Amino acid sequence: MPKIILDTDPGIDDAQAIAFAIAHPDIELLGLTTVFGNAEIEITTRNALHILDVFGQPQVPVAQGASDPLHQTRYPAPDFVHGTDGLGNIHITQPSSAPVSESAAEFIVRMASENPGEITLVAIGPLTNIAHAVSLDPSLPAKVKSLVVMGGSVAHPGNVTPLAEANFFNDPHAADAVFAHDWPATIIGLDVTLQTVLRDQDLAMIRDAAGRAGKFLWDTSRFYIDFYASRLARLGSTDRSCAMHDASALVYTVLPDAFQLIAGPTRVINDGIAAGQLSVDTQQEPYVLPAWTDRPLTSAAIGVDAPRVLDTFLSAI
Ligand code: BDR
Ligand code: CA
Repeated sequence: MPKIILDTDPGIDDAQAIAFAIAHPDIELLGLTTVFGNAEIEITTRNALHILDVFGQPQVPVAQGASDPLHQTRYPAPDFVHGTDGLGNIHITQPSSAPVSESAAEFIVRMASENPGEITLVAIGPLTNIAHAVSLDPSLPAKVKSLVVMGGSVAHPGNVTPLAEANFFNDPHAADAVFAHDWPATIIGLDVTLQTVLRDQDLAMIRDAAGRAGKFLWDTSRFYIDFYASRLARLGSTDRSCAMHDASALVYTVLPDAFQLIAGPTRVINDGIAAGQLSVDTQQEPYVLPAWTDRPLTSAAIGVDAPRVLDTFLSAI
C-alpha cells in the first residue's frame, strides 16, 4: 500500500487529487505539504485544511511550505484558472485545524527518515518544497520509495507559455535542482494529463454519488470547466471537460502500467524566453556540454491508457 505525502497547491485539480488519495483503498495518505502556486501560500494552506474538513479527514497533518520560488520573483497566481480563492470562488469556511509547526521540507525529511524506503512523494505544485527538502537532507532521494511529479511536458506544448507547463514555470530553478538528484522519479506531464480528462457528465456523476465530497468537487469544478471550455472553444470544440492533471499523478502510483514511460537525463530551463521548459534527453549523445548529460536518469510519461486512468479515478471517488 503506497504511503503518500502529497505536496500540493490547492487548486481545483489538486482537490480532485486529494479526494483520490483519500478514497483509494490502496493509498495511505500520511500528510499534505503546501506550496504557493495556484494561489498564495496562506490561501493554498487554508484550502488544504478546508478540503480535509470537507472530505472528513481533518486528522491528516498539513505542513505549510514555500511562499516564493527559490530564486525568481513569484508570478501572480492565475485567478482566471482556479479563481481568486484557488478553489473556483466557492464559499470556504474557517478550517477546523491549523498546520503543524514543522515546515513542509522538515515534515518530508522527518517522515522519510522514520519510514525508510516506504514513502512515495507526490508533488503536484511548483517543486520548491522538494528542492528545500533535498537541500536539508541530501540523502532524501535514497530514503523515499519514489518521487512522482506532475509537471512539464516532453513533446506537448506548454500551458503557460508555448514551452512551459505551470508548475515548472512557477519555479524552474527548483525543478531543475530536483532532477539533479538520483531519485526513483517519474514525471507525469501535459503529454498525458491533457488526455486524462474529466467530462462534465463524470463530474455530475461524482456530485450525485459521492455525498458532501462529491458536491464539493462539482462546485469547485464549475469555474475550472468554464476556463477549459473557453480554451476548447478557441480550438473549435464545444466540449465541457477539464484536464485531470494532478489526480493523474496519483493514479500513476496505483496503476503504473497504464502509463508509457521514457527516461533520460532531465533538465528544466531556468530563465529566458524558454524558462520552465522540460528536457528529458533520450538520445544521450556525447554532447559538447556535460551539463546536459551529467545527470541521473528520470522517467517521464509520454503515453497513457486514458480510459483506464479515468475509470480508476471514478471508481475510487
Ligand atoms: C498544473 O498547474 C496547476 O494549475 C494545476 O494544479 C496543476 O498542478 C497543471 O499545469
Ligand atoms: Ca497543482
